Amino acid sequence: MKKLFKILGIVLVIVLVFAGGGYIYLVSAFPKVSAAPELKIEPTPERIERGKFLANSFAFCIDCHSDRDLNKFGFPVKPGTEGQGGIDYGEGAGFVPAANITSDKETGLGSWTDGEIFRAITAGVSKDGRFLAPMMPYPMFAQMDKEDLYSIIAYIKTLPAIKNKVQEKNLKFPVSLIFRTIPADANNFGKRPDGTDKIKLGEYYGAACKFCHSQSDKGNIIPGKEFAGGVEFQMPDGSVVRSSNITPDKETGIGNMTKDIFIAKFKACLNEANLDPKSRGYNTPMAWNFIAKTASDDDLGAIYDYLMVQKPINNKVDKVTLQGVK
Ligand code: HEC
Ligand code: HEC
Repeated sequence: MKKLFKILGIVLVIVLVFAGGGYIYLVSAFPKVSAAPELKIEPTPERIERGKFLANSFAFCIDCHSDRDLNKFGFPVKPGTEGQGGIDYGEGAGFVPAANITSDKETGLGSWTDGEIFRAITAGVSKDGRFLAPMMPYPMFAQMDKEDLYSIIAYIKTLPAIKNKVQEKNLKFPVSLIFRTIPADANNFGKRPDGTDKIKLGEYYGAACKFCHSQSDKGNIIPGKEFAGGVEFQMPDGSVVRSSNITPDKETGIGNMTKDIFIAKFKACLNEANLDPKSRGYNTPMAWNFIAKTASDDDLGAIYDYLMVQKPINNKVDKVTLQGVK
């Protein structure tokens, strides 16, 4: 018996040394990204205009990085809080508040260079090189057109300074180690479609839709689940909402939804009367009102066209599990 304990003891020591060594390796070797690029983005009116459009629509920057009204359907942005950060996007991974991205020098991005902002958005590290959690969807932004990213940066630098010190994130183990390994230099930038090919345009603008409407494993969409929905979101009241199947499957997706109805679903959320979660029977993380305010019928139509050429996937999603109801 004594001998067995001794052997077990040795095995335990070996395991601990390896685990400890692995820990030290991960912490010292990651995140692995290059220095921020030298970049001076000329804030032309065209860039600021384009950046304003993207940040307030399909790139969702202002949606995530503002205070949001938790009592309204789709949690619309509270006017006057644009860019101040603070809302927690940790879901199961811990506490991950959105950063202050206003021009405030102390608590926002006011002292960052253009290159440092560019690196944060595309490679996933902060000014001081610390990793960003992928709730900030930098792998998605790393596939945008560089010129569009310059436009977004030119625009967010115009956000009025709001002094708001956001708390440090607090990740659970082992995601705290895994997230550290995800940041990477961006080297696969996309090309902004010129708009003549609606399906291409819909694909470009629909990246975030795909992100929320496809089940993934460690940040990678599971092949065959593209747009099939079923991703769970915990609502502040404890209920669970699942993203819809938006593939063209006629039975379980949106194959029977016309383009007009698709667009109207968004535009209806411009009407204050439709933003009462009580009359809707549930609330949702999907920023219906936010998108409706900025996106044109044409932009939404392009996304619809793109969705309609996706593979139909039969996947029935139960939209809501209300709190306390099983
Ligand atoms: C889904 C929500 C979400 C979206 C969309 C989003 N962000 Fe973030 N962002 C976050 C969160 C959460 C953090 C904090 C991550 C962390 O601390 O690890 C963050 C961090 C950042 C940072 C780092 C700031 C710092 O102090 O380290 C910058 C810069 C930033 N975001 C800019 C943007 C821009 C620009 C866009 C649009 C192109 C954008 N974000 C879109 C959630 C989001
Ligand atoms: C933050 C995650 C999130 C993002 C981003 C998102 N959605 Fe959703 N979406 C949901 C959830 C959750 C639901 C189900 C609850 C509801 O109806 O709002 C939903 C519902 C829908 C529905 C309703 C389908 C039906 O059968 O009624 C459509 C259409 C839709 N989304 C399209 C889109 C499009 C297009 C985009 C991109 C512009 C998008 N979504 C972005 C989470 C998201």
